[in-house]
Amino acid sequence: MGKVFIDACFRKETPYTPIWLMRQAGRYLPQYKEVREKAGDFLTLCKNPELAAKVTLQPVEILGVDAAILFSDILVIPLEMGMDLSFQKGEGPVFKNPIRDMDDVDRLYDFPEERLTYVYETIKLVKKELPKDKALIGFSGAPWTLATYMIEGGSSKTFSTVKKMVYTDPDFVHALLIKLTEAIKAYLIKQIESGADAIQIFDSWAGVLEKSRFLDFSWEYLIDIAEFLKDRYPKVPIILFAKGVGGYLNEIKGRFDVFSVDWATPLEIAKEKLGKKYVLQGNLEPARLYSKEAVREGVEEIIEVMGTKPGHIFNLGHGMLPDVDFENAKYLVELVHDLTRR
Ligand code: CP3
Repeated sequence: MGKVFIDACFRKETPYTPIWLMRQAGRYLPQYKEVREKAGDFLTLCKNPELAAKVTLQPVEILGVDAAILFSDILVIPLEMGMDLSFQKGEGPVFKNPIRDMDDVDRLYDFPEERLTYVYETIKLVKKELPKDKALIGFSGAPWTLATYMIEGGSSKTFSTVKKMVYTDPDFVHALLIKLTEAIKAYLIKQIESGADAIQIFDSWAGVLEKSRFLDFSWEYLIDIAEFLKDRYPKVPIILFAKGVGGYLNEIKGRFDVFSVDWATPLEIAKEKLGKKYVLQGNLEPARLYSKEAVREGVEEIIEVMGTKPGHIFNLGHGMLPDVDFENAKYLVELVHDLTRR
């Protein structure tokens, strides 16, 4: 049996529009919280292949989504480059010694992909259990988004430290981005070789840059990674999620297969500008999952635009919020399957 999700990535006929949800594994699932408690902290869970595989599979079993996404985090690359990462309650990720100059870049370990063996182990375990008609999505953060966390030292509201570097010391930022790009390429190849059926690249903070700087500091590196992967594994679909770039859609070109539309970008505009070239993924506003009525209305609006022909993969327009009711997520998945069945 073919995989519905992979067929959809290549615009082939499928029995219905497939759906998965960004950040579908996590705290809104009682079964996740149980495993997380057993593991202790979040990074320990990421580093334990058996438990990580278990929570990767939970959304497939509980919600009926068409693809699993590897349970890990985008920040394991900087972690394995030697950075001191911790997750603090209420604060999100924190790096104790942020990267601020060329010496800091030089001190980062090369070849973090060689230390990320727990990720490849997780992929292999998931593939043993995953039903054959479901896909496993591997992923990485984009160079720009990883650089924002590494330079800021964690999450940021203004991105003023990393932006200051963009305008005052661009060579330093590019040196970091080049190092990250090489690591990401090698890491994603290893995920594919371990069994990942598709790859998504998360550029969650692409949209904090003005257009010219977005092109230089984010986009150039994204299309380079896509090109590198497609040359080697043409049958593995590449999905780009670059959040906040709805104003720059005319600039979007490159050798990836699926463009993931964030919730603030009107789907009809994305369809008009990109729908012929790329399969579109998205873009339900994640907060709609607080209400079944809001879910139904949002699903109907999206199907109205995208129809039920090949060219669309259903998803949220950003990650799942941690306090939604998982019953509403289950309802969303069933609704999309029902309303798009051909
Ligand atoms: O999608 C999935 O279910 C797979 C696993 C996954 C996680 N993070 C697990 C996680 C994926 C694909 C990510 C990607 C990720 N991580 C991104 C890009 C996507 C996006 O949302 O923009 C970013 C920016 C991160 C960095 C990160 N990790 C932050 C900012 C946080 C703290 C905020 C939060 O949600 O708590 C994390 C922690 C994190 N990553 C959790 C999970 C399940 C929560 C950890 C926990 O307490 O159990």
